[in-house]
Amino acid sequence: MNHEIVEKNTPLMIVLIIVAISFGALVELVPLAFSKTVNTPIEGLEPYSALELEGRDIYMREGCAVCHSQMVRPMRAETERYGHYSVAGESVYEHPFLWGSKRTGPDLARVGGRYSDDWQRAHLYNPRDVVPESIMPAYPWLFDNKIDGSVVPAKFRALRILGVPYTDEDIAGAQAAAETCPSAPGGHCREIDAVVAYLQQLGTLLKSRR
Ligand code: HEC
Repeated sequence: MNHEIVEKNTPLMIVLIIVAISFGALVELVPLAFSKTVNTPIEGLEPYSALELEGRDIYMREGCAVCHSQMVRPMRAETERYGHYSVAGESVYEHPFLWGSKRTGPDLARVGGRYSDDWQRAHLYNPRDVVPESIMPAYPWLFDNKIDGSVVPAKFRALRILGVPYTDEDIAGAQAAAETCPSAPGGHCREIDAVVAYLQQLGTLLKSRR
């Protein structure tokens, strides 16, 4: 009888469905927030440098994550190709995380150090110059756009609120650190310097440990 009341009353049904799903979500999510294995940084994990953080933001702006995941799954075919599978402790300073699920291109979770800086620059300028069959878009404007470091201290402060351990000195020096690249024209970092710095550190902490 009670069941019939629910089945004939759509708003009530909607409310009860939401209650049921929320309860399921709580049971799944709340224990995770207290689980050490998922919220403890792995040994050696450092917050992003100012330049790497800018590179990460450009990576998001350019939609690299639309074609590239950053999540090596714990399966033989994946670990043979990319290296150690991804662990939660590598991502504790990621806000937002970029694990993704779409792989038009290869996974990039362990791409750091796989190629030289020169290769990365040539590849981003025009992927076909180094990988003739590539369908990846070219990003030549990264070589012209200068980094605006004035926004980085605010980003550091925001991340600190979320638990990333930036110090007051990090924040004070963030603008200079994001803009100073001795090898760039005029010593002022271009966006390409930031993206390559970001790519070259990806996954390096667990890279060699298979
Ligand atoms: C339209 C999909 C697409 C987008 C968007 C894209 N890529 Fe790619 N990427 C690919 C494909 C396909 C490959 C494999 C062929 C090649 O190496 O160029 C690749 C390869 C790579 C590689 C080499 C990976 C390896 O292990 O060999 C890197 C590094 C890379 N992309 C970085 C980026 C970055 C950084 C961006 C954003 C600025 C980006 N990609 C945007 C499709 C894409």
